[in-house]
Amino acid sequence: MRHAAYVFDAYGTLFDVHAAVRRHAGEIGPEGQRFSELWRAKQLEYSWVLTLMGQYQDFWVLTERALDFAFARVPSVDRRLRQDLLDAYWRLDCYEEVPAVLKALKREGARLAILSNGSAAMLEAAIRSSALDDVIDDVFSVETLRRFKTDQNVYELVTNAWRIYPQNVSFQSSNRWDIAGARQFGFRTVWLNRTDQPDEYEDFPPDLILPSLEGLLS
Ligand code: LAC
Repeated sequence: MRHAAYVFDAYGTLFDVHAAVRRHAGEIGPEGQRFSELWRAKQLEYSWVLTLMGQYQDFWVLTERALDFAFARVPSVDRRLRQDLLDAYWRLDCYEEVPAVLKALKREGARLAILSNGSAAMLEAAIRSSALDDVIDDVFSVETLRRFKTDQNVYELVTNAWRIYPQNVSFQSSNRWDIAGARQFGFRTVWLNRTDQPDEYEDFPPDLILPSLEGLLS
């Protein structure tokens, strides 16, 4: 079933967060995957802990701090790669199917947006480097609220701006915890399970599970 409005999480959903480490895989060595997963996990942990405390820090700062933790935890990775990895984060690859799927939805008249923990500057850079500027109608960053997902006010950014009921928004995220938050808010949720992860947050199930965004077109 097609919808009039589609909202996408950014990191892990449209943009591949592990692309930065993969781009430097040769120099990083055998612990690259662990290093990248740790970087991502810490970035997210910091966002949740700050929001629970009523505190906020730009997602970029959290990204830098999480990378520094990963370097400390995985000493085999050369710290001289720090700047290269940070630079790469501003030019992450989007997943292969993303441009065609977004363009097809757009052609059918759907409204498309990103709703992300990322700062507006980070998101703008990622969108530009993936050449998605023409298809994304709106970019909602949590930075206007200074709270991170799964704070329910974050999801409300979309319904307030678009004056639309939550159930009329199809929300796509590869982050199962983000799907739980969006489901609680009332969005119709599509969990993008790109890497065959086990399901979790059983009290907040997705409406649909897809291995890639291509399933949105069927
Ligand atoms: C985002 C993170 C959660 O883009 O991936 O909001």
